[in-house]
Amino acid sequence: MKKSIFKVIFVAILALGTVAPIATLATHYSSLQVEKSVNLEAAILQTIDSDSMFNNIKFLSKSPRVAGTEQEDAAVAYIKKSFESYGYKTEVQAFTFTDYTAPHTIKLSIDSFTKSLDPQALEYSISGQVSGEIVTAGLGKVEELQYLDLTGKIALLERGEISFNDKMSNVIAKGAVGAIFYNNVPGTVMGSLGEVNKAFVPAVLLTEAEGDELVKHINNNPSTHASITIKGSKSQKNISHNVIATKMPTSNQKQVTTSSKIDKDIIVISAHHDSVAGAPGANDNASGAAMTLELSRVMKNIPSETEIRFITFGAEEFGLLGSTHYVENLTEDEISRIAANFNLDMVGSKDAGELILQTADGKHNLVTQQAQAASTKLNGEPTPVNQGDRSDHVPFANVGIPSALFIHNPAEPWYHKPEDKIDKISKEKLQDVAEIVSIALWNQIRIDHQVK
Ligand code: BES
Ligand code: ZN
Repeated sequence: MKKSIFKVIFVAILALGTVAPIATLATHYSSLQVEKSVNLEAAILQTIDSDSMFNNIKFLSKSPRVAGTEQEDAAVAYIKKSFESYGYKTEVQAFTFTDYTAPHTIKLSIDSFTKSLDPQALEYSISGQVSGEIVTAGLGKVEELQYLDLTGKIALLERGEISFNDKMSNVIAKGAVGAIFYNNVPGTVMGSLGEVNKAFVPAVLLTEAEGDELVKHINNNPSTHASITIKGSKSQKNISHNVIATKMPTSNQKQVTTSSKIDKDIIVISAHHDSVAGAPGANDNASGAAMTLELSRVMKNIPSETEIRFITFGAEEFGLLGSTHYVENLTEDEISRIAANFNLDMVGSKDAGELILQTADGKHNLVTQQAQAASTKLNGEPTPVNQGDRSDHVPFANVGIPSALFIHNPAEPWYHKPEDKIDKISKEKLQDVAEIVSIALWNQIRIDHQVK
């Protein structure tokens, strides 16, 4: 990590006091504007404290923080309290989700079939025990099932053309009590029924080879019976939370700049605070949550006309649920006003590779441009950009908001493992990423950039 010359400049400024008075100085436009910008940039860099991030990660990663658990609630309370201690108005946004537990037992037995089968559950397969005659039902399209009565029977269905969910609904409508799906290409597939649904019937998934054998067997032995047993899968409603701290535009600049219309006047800095079960998630993603807190602390007294929302999302690990809920609940007006989402996920592991930026479509956008300008200025080279859609920047991208994920690549070996603890965290990496994000953010919000 290379030190910026601005830090040196800031030593002199420090002698005059803290960031707050400097920020107050910069409330009017004058020929000193550029100089003040430099001073504020120096102030931002100087204020970033990797110890503060480290200590917050340490606190948050005492245990896993699975969405909907008491441990998530404790993390949410801690994050809210921290935002409030910096002076932010902070909202906790609750949302419900369905928590699905995969089965521990999946059995399929077929009368007089001697070849061994390795049935897999599909995601959202329900538990239950059913038996009945197996009937081949093709791809399970409505027109194929038209003259079939599947009442009390188990449908055998090939993958393809329509979703597993549609196949399931179609055979249920014809009275099926169970479903056996098989792949249409060699190898295994992670099948999903797409949703939790109590109306589903027990279902398993076989390989293409297993399915072909089974079809042959049924053709040779009409009215073959099968039984499916699935145990241990369950789904329950649960509640997770997003924590949203808002930095309102600095009010006295509003008057000065009423003539300059800023269309995109909101920036979102985000990170998920939840972890997977069994992993304390120091890097994934107490690191991002702690960096979001730190950036909010550092930016508190920096004047800007842009509103900044610092958000930690819940239930990312269950499928980007918190960020999806957040984006779905934005008004059209808010969506059109959000200039950028900087999403921080896994930003402090000693054992991960270099910082990269990932966008959902692999293309550059405002976030990557600002981050590359900042990294070039700070470290002499632009942070590389590639495609990635595994974190909370995706729901923003889906509604057209420029967004990018800040992450180290390759990921550390402890990703989603019990070893993802505080001892794997690097203060240097935290400092480096926080500097890049804060300078990118600063360049975006600088009043002198906005006043034309
Ligand atoms: N932090 C990870 C995403 C990640 C890990 C990106 C390693 C790049 C390299 C995130 O918390 C995660 O685990 N995401 C899930 C996907 C999500 C939709 C449930 C994943 O990648 O499996
Ligand atoms: Zn993560």
